[in-house]
Amino acid sequence: MIFRQLFDATSGTYTYLLASRPGAEALIIDPVLERVDRYIQLLDELDLRLVKAVDTHLHADHITGLGALRDRTRCITVMGENTKADVVSMRVADGESIDIEGVGLGVVYTPGHTDDSYSFVMADRVFTGDTLLIRGTGRTDFQNGDARAQYESIFGRLLKLPEATLVYPAHDYKGDTVSTIGEERRFNPRLQVRSVDEYAELMGNLNLANPKMMDVAVPANMKVGLAQDEIARRGWAVSAEEALALVGDPDVVLVDLREPRERAKRGEIPGALHAPYAELAENIRTGGMLHELATATGRELLFYCAFGERSAMAVQAAQDAGLSKARHIEGGIKAWKDAKGPLAS
Ligand SMILES: [Fe+2]
Repeated sequence: MIFRQLFDATSGTYTYLLASRPGAEALIIDPVLERVDRYIQLLDELDLRLVKAVDTHLHADHITGLGALRDRTRCITVMGENTKADVVSMRVADGESIDIEGVGLGVVYTPGHTDDSYSFVMADRVFTGDTLLIRGTGRTDFQNGDARAQYESIFGRLLKLPEATLVYPAHDYKGDTVSTIGEERRFNPRLQVRSVDEYAELMGNLNLANPKMMDVAVPANMKVGLAQDEIARRGWAVSAEEALALVGDPDVVLVDLREPRERAKRGEIPGALHAPYAELAENIRTGGMLHELATATGRELLFYCAFGERSAMAVQAAQDAGLSKARHIEGGIKAWKDAKGPLAS
């Protein structure tokens, strides 16, 4: 496995790059905007293709690199379903997983630091965001933080992992890089409490100053969505209401870009073709399934996904590949549901 722990000294943030092997798909956790050039360079050097950029929660101390990485690599942006961010490409829930070629992250909802904090678990390690830090825990005094919820997330979820599980947090300010669950259980001063009340009292008396970047970072991080307006301005978008009339139209092929689990969970538009976003490049190049379908039949490709992010990028890519009859459903399956569009399961 390829695993890199990258550090942003300004905010004390750790960013993690994961892939199964050189030449494979890669995933990045908690990227920092100012470091995006470095990530792109490293991806290049290691011959990796970034397909997913994930944030553990909405950060208050730095601006996320999610939007910039999406714009530069056309990767999928991922956050937990409770995020306050306006638009991400994929939202994941507790018990689901974030998958790329050869790597899977189990999603564990661990609220407390914020109400949108998630941890990601692999066989030998866990990415704890700001829920569990090395010899510390994330503050719980803003962004709907809740010390009692955090106690439950740590004691009820994270500390139930095997003792040897490596702990990789989103921040460190003292120079530590990794710990284990067993080590934190024994030596983390915040975890030497006998009850949730004692923990809540401890967290309530920290009297921390707000992060310097908070007033800038929080609003910026809530607006990571791709500007789907630009795609609409070019005439490449249809609203969910307009799309209703196109279902069953012999000149239109609906193309579902989501992953199988998303389709199973949220339903699909009847008659749609399934062509996951991860395989888009192959599918739209000459000889690819969608390319041949569109050119042989002259039918329009009408892409859709969860929120319209992946499909907007797909339209641009298809247009760039010479498929001029490609559009997408703005707002994705969410907008389709709001428009009372029929769903098959
Ligand atoms: Fe945080």
